[in-house]
Amino acid sequence: MKLDELQKEYLSGKLGNSAKKMMELLITIGQIYGAKRLIKVSSVQIAGVSYDNIGEEGLQFIEDVARDGKVSVKATLNPAGMDLENWGEMGIKKEFAEKQLRIISAFRKIGAELSCSCVPYLIGNIPKRYEHIAWSESSAVCFANSVIGARTNREGGITALASAITGFTPEYGMHLEVNRLPCIKVCLDLRDIEPLYPGVLGSILGEKLRNQIPYIVGPKPTLEQLKELSASIATYGGTSMFYWEGISEEVKVPTKELILNRKDFETYRERLKGDKRGVELVALGCPHATIEELKEVRDLLRGRKVKIETWISTARKIFTEAKELGIVEEMKKSGIKIFCDTCFVVAPIRGKFKKIATNSAKALYYIQGKLRSETYYGTTEELVEIALNG
Ligand code: F3S
Repeated sequence: MKLDELQKEYLSGKLGNSAKKMMELLITIGQIYGAKRLIKVSSVQIAGVSYDNIGEEGLQFIEDVARDGKVSVKATLNPAGMDLENWGEMGIKKEFAEKQLRIISAFRKIGAELSCSCVPYLIGNIPKRYEHIAWSESSAVCFANSVIGARTNREGGITALASAITGFTPEYGMHLEVNRLPCIKVCLDLRDIEPLYPGVLGSILGEKLRNQIPYIVGPKPTLEQLKELSASIATYGGTSMFYWEGISEEVKVPTKELILNRKDFETYRERLKGDKRGVELVALGCPHATIEELKEVRDLLRGRKVKIETWISTARKIFTEAKELGIVEEMKKSGIKIFCDTCFVVAPIRGKFKKIATNSAKALYYIQGKLRSETYYGTTEELVEIALNG
């Protein structure tokens, strides 16, 4: 692989031991994937922040890197395993909190922004179209490639950290235009995009297309629907990109066609649904809730009190905005718990709730696989009803 002067300096160790190791790692990854060079990235989003996901080895690794490693580009973090200020209310044990706070303090030392959110693009980490970035949260990667038009592979937590420190990533995969072409036109024969349909669409395309990139033609989606689809398609299939006509950048439209109608959506939705009896936790905010989503829940509650434990995850920046608008206060009066910096999937709650209801197809997948809880998949409206009436 051809290296420039700065890259050679990193490799020599002149710029620190961590930077040397990180450069070695990127070169090795590049060699594995046949990259000819390393390219500059303008921003990084680092996953692998929750102690529940990375454990003791991950904590040691980040603390080692923090000895002399410093970020050289804008770097934001994925959710941690707990609300960093309000972890007691989540029922987090002190031992876990101590470990989690050590991870956060190592990232602080490295110079990462402690945003702890899976929607970096809504809270200030906004790349430009055609810019190369190195992000690792799968839903954010898909949103960045598809909606924003930035170029990123689905990085692992460690490779993203390596890019944050060196400012480079190997040029392969989604950084090459040839790998960003759609293979099939997907026509949505729908008048409107109904609630849950973006999540359901991700699961349909994941199963039918695996890692092929779809070119979707259909009614204009909202920001929230694009966020939901980005999370779902990346979870159920191997692709980290879609095109949505009128939203994504222009590209040659494929001739092969797949038509999906309401019946297809309802069939898949039914498959994911489950039984609503016995829900012990209603979980909203995957990916992290926007202000509009918080308002929607507030409006559906109409000041009534919930009977079932109900959590909403969001970014701290969005929480602060919601607080200023009085939304947080109203939700709290209804008994809803809004947690920042984390989500119910990356928090240590395995075995705590027998059945969890969610409106997110991505969360559904991980609640079943990681938390081993039973699930119910319903609209926000249905979930609020469950929360209010049991
Ligand atoms: Fe975000 Fe957690 Fe969902 S990290 S995308 S809220 S599983």
